[in-house]
Amino acid sequence: MKPLLQLVPDDEGFAPDLHRALRQRPRTISPKYFYDEAGSALFERICELPEYYPTRTELALLQRHAPEMATLIGPGAQLVEYGAGALRKVRLLLAHLNAPHSFVPVDISGPHLLGACRTLQAEFPALALQPVIADFTRPHDLPARPALGRRIGFFPGSSIGNFAPEQALDFLRMAAQQLRGGALLIGVDLIKEPALLHAAYNDAAGVTAAFNLNILARARQELDAQIDPEGFAHSAFYNAPLQRIEMHLQSRRRQQLRLEHRVYEFEAGETLHTENSYKFSIEGFQALASKAGFKAATVWTDERDWFSLHWLQAPD
Ligand code: AVJ
Repeated sequence: MKPLLQLVPDDEGFAPDLHRALRQRPRTISPKYFYDEAGSALFERICELPEYYPTRTELALLQRHAPEMATLIGPGAQLVEYGAGALRKVRLLLAHLNAPHSFVPVDISGPHLLGACRTLQAEFPALALQPVIADFTRPHDLPARPALGRRIGFFPGSSIGNFAPEQALDFLRMAAQQLRGGALLIGVDLIKEPALLHAAYNDAAGVTAAFNLNILARARQELDAQIDPEGFAHSAFYNAPLQRIEMHLQSRRRQQLRLEHRVYEFEAGETLHTENSYKFSIEGFQALASKAGFKAATVWTDERDWFSLHWLQAPD
């Protein structure tokens, strides 16, 4: 198991992106910077929270329908997971696959990914594992496709919800090309009662707040930024017209922040927008997928219609 490492260009990465975020108005940074080691661990804790329904709802759907999904995937497939994380969900699929060619998890967090791969390999000793350390939101290379089986994408967790609609379309178009002749199995969180959404991003234990604030902790540790740890508050709310949860770090007072010899001013109440989490209707998501060239086929949902898994056929 040797990872394929794809480095980020010099003008990208946390420091230049944070400078860009702090210069612009409104101030916005990509949620991909949540996922250093501490952030990835906090995210795993979010998935266990009583208020955070997506993970357990999607796991139950995978558990229930894995045999049918494995049949759709077919024999000898190369399974590519975008934004692999802890690899908990894919296990449920792998257990049912017919002679998979290989499993290719793609993730930006190298140490986290390789740790998860070692555990997975112990459980599936015969599985060919080809981890790719890369930012899957950017153009990236994959190991060669199998000569016989198909390439199947797996994108669970409703991570697609992090993208604005145009970016989601770009991602799906890229995936449609990468997966030509195969399919994409993708998890999509559904529009629901705003109070349920609000609770999922404002948990009583404060884990989501810690996850959000970790981006500042990371700036302090990694970039030596001078930011008062107490100076910002977690803010998450449902923006109903835009059908998305927004997460922000809100300045508790007027203050200054220093990053590599640059000083940035925050007014009291001013925010750094850290994440969007779009929610979809089934029809709305299928329309987006077909715009990207996929053909929507099977959809699985839970009894309460809180979460959906979509089987999308890629173009030939
Ligand atoms: C990993 C993007 C699907 O939007 O629900 C969880 C991230 N942020 N709690 C989501 C997240 C705050 C999560 N995704």
